[in-house]
Amino acid sequence: MEDRPINHSLSQTETPSLPEEDKSVLQIWGRTPLHGHVKISGAKNSALAIMAGALLCPQDCRLRNVPSLVDVKRMSQILLALGVKLERKGDILDIDARHLEQSKAPYELVSQLRASFFVIGPVLARLGVARVPLPGGCAIGARPVDLHVRGLQAMGAEVQIDHGMVHAYVGGSGSKKLKGAKIYLDCPSVGATETLMMAATLAEGETTLENAAQEPEVVDLANFCRAMGARIRGAGTNTIIISGVPSLHSVDYSIIPDRIEAGTFLVAGAITNSELSLSPVVPDHLTAVIAKLHEIGSRVITEEPNCLRIVPGRIRAADIETLPYPGFPTDMQAQFMALLAQSEGDSVITETVFENRLRHVAELNRMGADIRVKGNNAIIRGVPRLSGAPVVATDLRASAALVLAGLAAEGKTSIQGLHHLDRGYDNLEVKLRQLGARLQRVQDEAEVGQVSADPSKVTALQPE
Ligand code: UD1
Repeated sequence: MEDRPINHSLSQTETPSLPEEDKSVLQIWGRTPLHGHVKISGAKNSALAIMAGALLCPQDCRLRNVPSLVDVKRMSQILLALGVKLERKGDILDIDARHLEQSKAPYELVSQLRASFFVIGPVLARLGVARVPLPGGCAIGARPVDLHVRGLQAMGAEVQIDHGMVHAYVGGSGSKKLKGAKIYLDCPSVGATETLMMAATLAEGETTLENAAQEPEVVDLANFCRAMGARIRGAGTNTIIISGVPSLHSVDYSIIPDRIEAGTFLVAGAITNSELSLSPVVPDHLTAVIAKLHEIGSRVITEEPNCLRIVPGRIRAADIETLPYPGFPTDMQAQFMALLAQSEGDSVITETVFENRLRHVAELNRMGADIRVKGNNAIIRGVPRLSGAPVVATDLRASAALVLAGLAAEGKTSIQGLHHLDRGYDNLEVKLRQLGARLQRVQDEAEVGQVSADPSKVTALQPE
């Protein structure tokens, strides 16, 4: 992974701005021991990519184990806007893209969700034309899409970017089909690997993706495409070879468990000194996370092939560097920072994947943590105990880190910016409450006043 300049735009006392309408607050009363079992939902990042992948198929697709998330709803709205029919019952999502005819994804939706840009690959492969606005998503750096664009160009697409819209089309030479190509990715981008793999399934000839991302969600997408008749080899390694086929067929497919949600609950056990079990999980997807938890002092035991138990211990300091899979995931960096904030000793966390993903430091410091940022390093001096405070979530995983810190802190923590949390955690509050945590979501803390030392006196809103 190449080095990127790090931009720390917030000082430790600045408060990140909140969208006007997002007034709800999650109040957590910390230092309550947790116990019991957590059911892990389907993987957000798999579900979003696979929903895009369903656009490749001119027949019915049934997806199972689809998590209930705002991001999934937004992706559903994008598919609807493209002319696709969708039906959701529980965790099953039926997608019928036989009438995919719209090639333009709406700006208002794509700007809220980076993963929605990934529809450019399948829409282009099916229709020969795709118009997708430059994406949004978490505020964690520039997050360009140059690798997606260059890969599509290598496959014969004409691509122009103007007024924030990416226009891609094939057909200059008569055929509306993309052509297989040998593509080297400058860095193993998850999204670019997925976009190009999807595009290549219906291309003429063979495509080789080198320096491809190896994340389990890439493998899940490849397995989904293969179940529809695509010919893909090597997913899960750094070289993926796709032999184009004329068309794909109907499928019934179950999404893998969310390794980041599982990792977050493992940290919840470690940070609250609580023994927890979780399933279903694929322990192999969590190797780097489990290794770090062992180093820090917890034991993680595989009880059945798909069930893990965390047995917490004293929290020791450890250094962490985020890396593409199978390295330590950037999506677990903030949660481990919350844990290490209370360790015995000094730790350094180095963020190498995204350029602006340490904004939670200021919020953790509000809770009594002692963390300094230098370049892309966070230098953490462990403190014996965090203390509850009003804080603001700055991105999706930062919001999870603040929840974890709140569970461990003395007193009450009030978290704003919950739209980030709702993007990526399926019923987090319900799941935590079932484990014994004391937490409530209120519409506007000012309305319930500061008398809410007892959560039973606060109106609870169920997360949607
Ligand atoms: C995906 C995940 C996200 C995770 C990330 C890294 C989804 C929906 N999201 O995001 O949760 O944190 O992988 O594991 O699956 N880059 C470029 N040019 C490109 C594409 C990426 O320079 O064209 C850079 C990015 O700015 C970033 C790095 O590559 O610094 C990694 O990004 P990438 O792997 O593409 O992340 P996403 O697919 O956006």
